[in-house]
Amino acid sequence: MKTFITSSPRKAAAYIRRGEVVAFPTETVYGLGANVFNAGAVRKIFSAKGRPADNPLIVHIMSRNQLPLLSTDIPRSAQLLMREFFPGPLTVILKKSKDIPAVVTAGMDTVGIRMPSLPLTRKFLLECGMPVAAPSANRSGTPSPTTWHAVKDDLDGRISCILKGERAIHGVESTVVDCTIDRPLILRTGAITLEQLRHVLPSIGITRSGVPGHPRSPGTKYRHYAPRARVRIISSTAAIRNPLRSAYIGLSKPGTALAAEKVCRSPKEYAHALYHFFRSCDRKGIETVYCQRVPLSGLGRTIMERLGKASRHE
Ligand code: TXA
Ligand code: MG
Repeated sequence: MKTFITSSPRKAAAYIRRGEVVAFPTETVYGLGANVFNAGAVRKIFSAKGRPADNPLIVHIMSRNQLPLLSTDIPRSAQLLMREFFPGPLTVILKKSKDIPAVVTAGMDTVGIRMPSLPLTRKFLLECGMPVAAPSANRSGTPSPTTWHAVKDDLDGRISCILKGERAIHGVESTVVDCTIDRPLILRTGAITLEQLRHVLPSIGITRSGVPGHPRSPGTKYRHYAPRARVRIISSTAAIRNPLRSAYIGLSKPGTALAAEKVCRSPKEYAHALYHFFRSCDRKGIETVYCQRVPLSGLGRTIMERLGKASRHE
C-alpha cells in the first residue's frame, strides 16, 4: 500500500472515517490511530505494528463530551486527575462501556483514556469526529517514534497515511494510572511524574516494575523501546569500552571521544532525547549505547524504567 503523507489534519481524518489507520503526532510520541468503534480498522493497527493481541490500546479523545461514549463509571480519583492533567500526557484507566469493541481493550473490562494537548492532534481528533484508539506508531518492540520520519522508517507501506507534525515535545509516552481500584496505581511511568500526581492524589501507588504478580499495564511485560544496538546502563563514564563503535547519552560529559554522544542538561532533556538518540545510533550502526544512570526522582524514574526495558535481552 502507498502511504500518503500530509500536513492536513482534515485529509488525515478522512482516512480514519473510511476505516483506515493513520499515524499522527501528539505531545508525547506519534500514535497510530483508528476509529475506536470500528473493530476491523482497529485490527489493522495490530497487524501494521506486529503488536501482540493481548496488549490493549489507549483511546484518544478531543473533549470531555466524548467520555460517556467510553465509560460511565468515573470515580472521584479519575475526576481529580482529569481536571488537573487533561489535556496532557496522562492516561486514566476506567471501566469500559460495552460499545468499545473487545479488540481495543484486548478483552479486558477496562479502557485507557487520554486527551492530547498538542493543537494539531486536537484539530485532527475534531475532524475525525470520534474517539481514536492508538498505540505508539512504531513496529512493536522498537523505540516509540518522536518524529514523522521515524514513523515512516517503521511503517511506510504498511499504513494508509501519516499526519506530519513537529518533533514530539516530551519524547516519552504518557503516564498510565489505574483509577478502577480504591487506591489508584501508576501502571506505567511517563511524562507526568509521580511527584506531580501526588500533589493531586497523595495516596497514589506505583507498580514495582518487574515484580512477578504485581499489577502493571499488559504492555510493560514485553521487551520494549529498544534499538538494535546493545543498551548498557552505567553509573560512571569510565565504564565505556570500544568508544569508536559506541555511543553515550547522559547528564555528564564523557572523558573519551565516541562515535555519537548526547550530553543532556536535565532529566527532561534526557527523556526528550532518548528514543530519538536510540534511532540515530541504529542508523550509524553503533554496537553499544551507554546510558548514564540517573536518580529515581521526577522524570529520572521514567528514564530508568525505559532503560531497564531497553537493556533487557531476551
Ligand atoms: O503517550 C502515549 O501514551 C502514546 C500516545 C500515542 O498517546 N501511546 C502509547 O500507547 O504509548 P502504547 O500502546 O504504546 O502504550 C499503552 C500502554 C501499554 O503498556 C498498554 O498495555 C497500557 O498502556 N494500557 C492500555 N490500556 C490499558 C488497560 N485497559 N489496562 C491497563 N493497561 C493498559
Ligand atoms: Mg508503544
